[in-house]
Amino acid sequence: MIRDVLRMGDPRLLQRSAPVDAFGNPALDALLADMRETMVAKKGAGLAAPQIGVLQQVVIFGVERNERYPDAEPVPYTELVNPVLTPLSDERDEDWEGCLSIPDIRGMVPRFTDVTVRALDRNGKKIELRLKNFAARVAQHETDHLDGVLFFDRMTSMQSLTFLEEYSRFHSKDED
Ligand code: NI
Repeated sequence: MIRDVLRMGDPRLLQRSAPVDAFGNPALDALLADMRETMVAKKGAGLAAPQIGVLQQVVIFGVERNERYPDAEPVPYTELVNPVLTPLSDERDEDWEGCLSIPDIRGMVPRFTDVTVRALDRNGKKIELRLKNFAARVAQHETDHLDGVLFFDRMTSMQSLTFLEEYSRFHSKDED
């Protein structure tokens, strides 16, 4: 089922989500199914459970060709429960981000370029991933939602903030 996505200003987006403690059950399967359907319908690169009002540590992400992120490299579809993200170096890079909870806005956000993620899958099996560049960016953005952090909080300057229409006109790499 496609769920409503909470928008910035909803206090639930600023709360910490709780760890999942029950795996391999219909409730978690249904949550992940709803999240995937919602992410695809809204053309997001990722989605965190609190964005649909479920304050549990569950995120998904994945990008094939995405019209909201025409310049993005593909990222395989990934589901992470109780993720813990660790940067592997201090190296960061700044690039554009958007968020389904902050519609039609883009801003430049610094993120670590090389991270590992330890998490569980829907059945409670351990997952360890090494992610770089855009995949690392998306994972950091989504796991931030579990701490009640939105990408505005990660920006070092608000100067790059742009509406989507102006982003397409002036800032998309396709226009260069
Ligand atoms: Ni977001």
